[in-house]
Amino acid sequence: MQMEKFDQPLEDLIRHAERRMQEVSGGRFRARFHLMPPVGWLNDPNGLCQFKETLHVFFQYAPLSATPGGGESIKCWGHYTSPDFIHWQYAGVPLLPDQPFDRDGVYSGSALIEDGTMNLYYTGNVKQVGDFDYIHSGREGNTVLVSSEDGIHFGEKKCILKNADYPEQYTCHVRDPKVFKEGGRTYMVLGGREKDDKGSVILLESNNLIDWQVTDTLSTREKFGYMWECPDVFTVDGMKVLSISPQGLAREEYRFQNIYQSGYFPYDHITPDSFTEWDMGFDFYAPQTFEDEKGRRILIGWAGLPDIEPEYNNEPSVQEGWQHCLTVPRVIRLVDGKLRQAPIEELNDLHGEKTIAKEADFATFDAQINEIQSQTCTITIGQGMHLNYDNGIFEMAFSDESGCGRRSRKIRIDELQSLRILVDTSIVEAFINDGAYVMTTRFYSDHNGINVDCEPCTCVIYAMNAMTVD
Ligand code: FRU
Repeated sequence: MQMEKFDQPLEDLIRHAERRMQEVSGGRFRARFHLMPPVGWLNDPNGLCQFKETLHVFFQYAPLSATPGGGESIKCWGHYTSPDFIHWQYAGVPLLPDQPFDRDGVYSGSALIEDGTMNLYYTGNVKQVGDFDYIHSGREGNTVLVSSEDGIHFGEKKCILKNADYPEQYTCHVRDPKVFKEGGRTYMVLGGREKDDKGSVILLESNNLIDWQVTDTLSTREKFGYMWECPDVFTVDGMKVLSISPQGLAREEYRFQNIYQSGYFPYDHITPDSFTEWDMGFDFYAPQTFEDEKGRRILIGWAGLPDIEPEYNNEPSVQEGWQHCLTVPRVIRLVDGKLRQAPIEELNDLHGEKTIAKEADFATFDAQINEIQSQTCTITIGQGMHLNYDNGIFEMAFSDESGCGRRSRKIRIDELQSLRILVDTSIVEAFINDGAYVMTTRFYSDHNGINVDCEPCTCVIYAMNAMTVD
């Protein structure tokens, strides 16, 4: 069933938009080793899984508009597959808003592989027309299940939970099902906003993947933001965590510096003090994790944020017909009670020319700076992007317009030991102290070289080749 929003079927409009994009010459800010939308807008990673050996990355995709807002920015799921994280195939738009229960957007969700079937759970967004506040009334967050035997073709969508099935204390804002197995049992977490403006998570259990019972709700005792989006629950090296993307935390100088955050709590200690942010840069939100067939816990985030205009203005990629990309896949491990993130090692296969020097002029590169024994360091990327360390404060800062309005993000770090900086055409991910901290930013520079002013340290820089996307 096609909803009557557009005068042509949405599939046709998407196909035209993607074809038009292929015909125009590739823009210079298009990413080389980060997944980006074929055309238009991308946000959260969805449905991450490895199914019958193939990796699947779905994503929130609004192909008809590179900017948010308006009917054209209706959310679908786009889809990439890969055998190895390096060679990708674009597999089209498997999920479109085409049912009464998802007519205003196929919102975020996750994958559960069971008995040779890929089950996708997502939120069917419905916004009623009328005089509503869209918090306490006027909105539906339906939980929908759709399955596939081959990971490409999907069967009939089934609406399995409606707002009336969620606990009474919730507003209409309940979404983003993440389904996971633990000890042979099947659970779902849903993010939500309670009626007293408290963010929390609903825990449900099922024994047939279709019928779900609410078993608990999870939150801090004191309110920690008004809404928790994109929950995730997983165990790494024996530590079980709850990951969330909270909205409504007050900004501070060294924490919570963006409009919204994302981070994790130890599952058995959900308190504001035990919340650790996944990424301290300018552009990161709504991450999701999955376990691959090698048993690695892999996190992918959206290298972007909602509701940031006019804070960062006029992202130049919009002139190229697209906006936002995903982070590289990051492998998570536990060290000294905290989770660390490292770029997935398959990215090393993209290494090209290598230089052992403190500067390089590559357009895209992987800089590995180790054995730093200095209390002050300045690393410049392009002309105006700087990573500064000065006696306990690490800063990512822009001194020119290559940040498009981004200025400074800071972390307190007792000792700077190492840095791994992945620089793509228009995105930088910096992994600090073996991935104990990460900072991600978009940047738009005419020139992307690196200069490392840090004494003493060791420095190896590899040019990065592009992934293939067919
Ligand atoms: C997070 C989010 C999710 C929602 C999706 C809609 O960025 O707001 O909560 O499902 O984006 O695109």
